[in-house]
Amino acid sequence: MVEWFSSVIGMSMGYFRKNIEKVKGYEPGFQPKETDVIKLNTNENPYPPSPAVMKVLAEISTERLRRYPDPIGNEFRQAAAEVNGVQPENIMCCNGGDDLLTIAFRAFCDESRPVAYPVPTYSLYPVLAKLQNCNAIEVPFDDEFNLPAKLVSTDAALTIVCNPNAPNGSFTSIDEMASLADELFGILLIDEAYVDFAEANCAGLVKEYDNVIILRSMSKGYSLAGMRFGYAIAQPDLIAGLIKVKDSYNVDAVAVAVAAAAIKDQKYFSETTEKVKKARGLLVAQLRDLEFEVPESCANFVLAQSKNCKASKIYDKLIERRIYVRYFNLPGLNDKLRISVGTGEQNDKLISALKEILSE
Ligand SMILES: Cc1ncc(COP(=O)(O)O)c(C=O)c1O
Repeated sequence: MVEWFSSVIGMSMGYFRKNIEKVKGYEPGFQPKETDVIKLNTNENPYPPSPAVMKVLAEISTERLRRYPDPIGNEFRQAAAEVNGVQPENIMCCNGGDDLLTIAFRAFCDESRPVAYPVPTYSLYPVLAKLQNCNAIEVPFDDEFNLPAKLVSTDAALTIVCNPNAPNGSFTSIDEMASLADELFGILLIDEAYVDFAEANCAGLVKEYDNVIILRSMSKGYSLAGMRFGYAIAQPDLIAGLIKVKDSYNVDAVAVAVAAAAIKDQKYFSETTEKVKKARGLLVAQLRDLEFEVPESCANFVLAQSKNCKASKIYDKLIERRIYVRYFNLPGLNDKLRISVGTGEQNDKLISALKEILSE
């Protein structure tokens, strides 16, 4: 564990439940204090939020701050329902997609109700399983990141599929996800945190399946990682159950107003996500020219492995040049770097730095 993080979360004290004492805690990507760095390590959007967001933020009234917020964020629910072709009753607002994951673990899992998910994937899932003291059934993807057939027969209370998957960006088809939803006895939570950069999404499955929850994040496609906002899409009964579990005021008044403004500006959203997708195509081609193996990605990051140099060495040498990418050193991800797609200029600087490092 990196020094700054272990000092923040502290050491074992004996006061906590046993599973809390044992869990290492989720290790977020490094957030450098300097702003003059190239930060491609936590999949933020390289473009600012919509100008409509900044306007709403500037006009927040003192009265809005004085009062408690709408507990279910109806302003956002209505806007998100329209964008996704569903009803406001199909939407629950969350304090980031991570809040929905916590709510889902609390709602569906305990010592006798396991969670299942394919691996490698988002490294928060096993941490939440340990916090909830539930068994985590990890089913390995094959080398092509196809959905493992065994996932359907785990008897888990909650099955999570990250789609596009992190940290490689693969996309499982809607038909495959529909078959999984159809065959599972428990809940299927489809983590679509990165779907804004893909060509399709699974929101339509909510109409047909009463066991599907879609997770969406406003951190990536809408450039609001600092605001903390996400939402669930599911059938009204599931949403009503999840609302019982969430904190009473899990989203604040400013965040609801800002997130609603962001999702209403679909023109700006399409322009910026298209720019990221175009830059991703170029970045993949440039990395392959430098003899990196890079699978196709449907997200705003790519997973890259050099045929000629260790990932740990490249990572360190990039930091010397004030360029941050993510290096996990975890099973299934050894020797790979996850690189968020930046602006064209940031990606060019990364490629120049890699050329230098590989020729040293
Ligand atoms: C796969 C995945 N799901 C969910 C989230 C949660 O995102 P947020 O809480 O910022 O909305 C993230 C964040 O990085 C993620 O990578």
